[in-house]
Amino acid sequence: MNDSALFAKYDVPAPRYTSYPTVPYWGVAPTQDQWISHLRQGLDSGRNKWSMYIHIPFCESLCTFCGCNTIITKDHKKEDPYLKLILKEWELYRQLVPEFTKSQLQGLHLGGGTPTFLSADHLGQMLSPILEQTHRGEHFEGSIEVDPRRTNREQLQLLYKLGFRRISLGVQDFNPEIQRLVNRLQSFEETESITRQAREIGFDSVNFDLIYGLAKQTRATMEHTIAQTKKLRPNRIALYSFALVPWIKPAQRLFKDEDLPTGKDKRDLYEYARTELLNFGYVEVGMDHFALKDEALAVAMTDHKLHRNFMGYTDQKSQVMLGLGVSSISESPQSFHQNEKILPKYEELINSGVIPTARGHILTEEDVSRREQILSLMTSYQVKMNPEQVKQAPEFLREMIADQLLAIHGDLIQVSEKGKPFLRNICIFFDEHLKRNKPQTKIFSQSL
Ligand SMILES: C[S@@+](CC[C@H](N)C(=O)[O-])C[C@H]1O[C@@H](n2cnc3c(N)ncnc32)[C@H](O)[C@@H]1O
Ligand code: SF4
Repeated sequence: MNDSALFAKYDVPAPRYTSYPTVPYWGVAPTQDQWISHLRQGLDSGRNKWSMYIHIPFCESLCTFCGCNTIITKDHKKEDPYLKLILKEWELYRQLVPEFTKSQLQGLHLGGGTPTFLSADHLGQMLSPILEQTHRGEHFEGSIEVDPRRTNREQLQLLYKLGFRRISLGVQDFNPEIQRLVNRLQSFEETESITRQAREIGFDSVNFDLIYGLAKQTRATMEHTIAQTKKLRPNRIALYSFALVPWIKPAQRLFKDEDLPTGKDKRDLYEYARTELLNFGYVEVGMDHFALKDEALAVAMTDHKLHRNFMGYTDQKSQVMLGLGVSSISESPQSFHQNEKILPKYEELINSGVIPTARGHILTEEDVSRREQILSLMTSYQVKMNPEQVKQAPEFLREMIADQLLAIHGDLIQVSEKGKPFLRNICIFFDEHLKRNKPQTKIFSQSL
């Protein structure tokens, strides 16, 4: 089978597996008491490490490719009430889970939306109390996602002072025409300036988010984007596959579905970037990340310590991840938990002193073992099967074996070089929820 046919064959809807079970298959959420008990057990009387995620939903304008949970507004009066809600939520957890103040806080990630929607003053008012009330480990890592168009030196200095050392810049594509089509005009100078300032201030690692598969992207536009990226040599690059998800509304965008590269044309954009980046000294990490050889993510991969969570690939694994803010997702060894996605509802629950649960999932034993298997595939391209799976695999994976995407050696599945682009498809073999209950409508983006 030639490449085009292969990419057409396997370009089907598939989860990105940032969690297992994937969010649409979550079942019953833990009650408040269960959730608290899961967190307390996960922290094991202060012996286990944990990390925190804070979601700032606001963005000044809508990028029409965006699949994140955002609130589009230019009204900066929203900053102060929102940061107070975050502090109230944290206070609630501090009362209910005293272990949070005893256990080591390993990492704090600010994501969004656009966390730098908050002024330096407001970022300080939100973060300082939290950092003062927690016990930061020696290897504490603060990280933040920023939009270079809405970030200033004062914010970067404040974050550095508070222990932030990693910064991730949304770039997506350097071509003005593609930027126009997704309503995100961002000059090279804006990206260059924030990269330079972050480095001058002392940030250790700068990441760029890029996307392949956007409307009207071609080999020529990707050549330009990668050439510009190389000039600034970010320590890490996330090269995401454009995910056209149902809530990206046709009415809000300037591109049509026909303008989107698909199948092999889309994958060729990734392959071109990959070759260029590898030749330039990056290593490929997992499905869609690149890192300079000495960067923590690349080291974690070499040391077999790569991990994956809701934010994608990471070199840090902690027993508990506490998400604060509207729509934030949290994780304990036994369950997942997501906050209310609608701001007024989140606000109402926080103000009445209740954990703002929207949904969640209590993991079964089977979930835990499948989660480990999918994680293994996603981070190391191989996975061990249980005896039942050894029996089922030859039939279920027959076509993928024939297409040389993977090989089975006893109880081990090994993904071939040719099979790497199809990792999401291969994971489906381990996804019992999806296999038992095939979606009737399209709930996942295309796999490639
Ligand atoms: C919260 S944003 C990053 C910070 C900031 N808001 C910005 O845009 O610069 C997270 C990243 O998710 C990626 N992203 C968002 N929607 C996507 C989609 N539909 N497909 C692929 N990647 C997407 C983008 O690369 C984006 O930079
Ligand atoms: S890409 Fe970033 S700035 Fe654009 S809408 Fe999404 S979260 Fe907001």
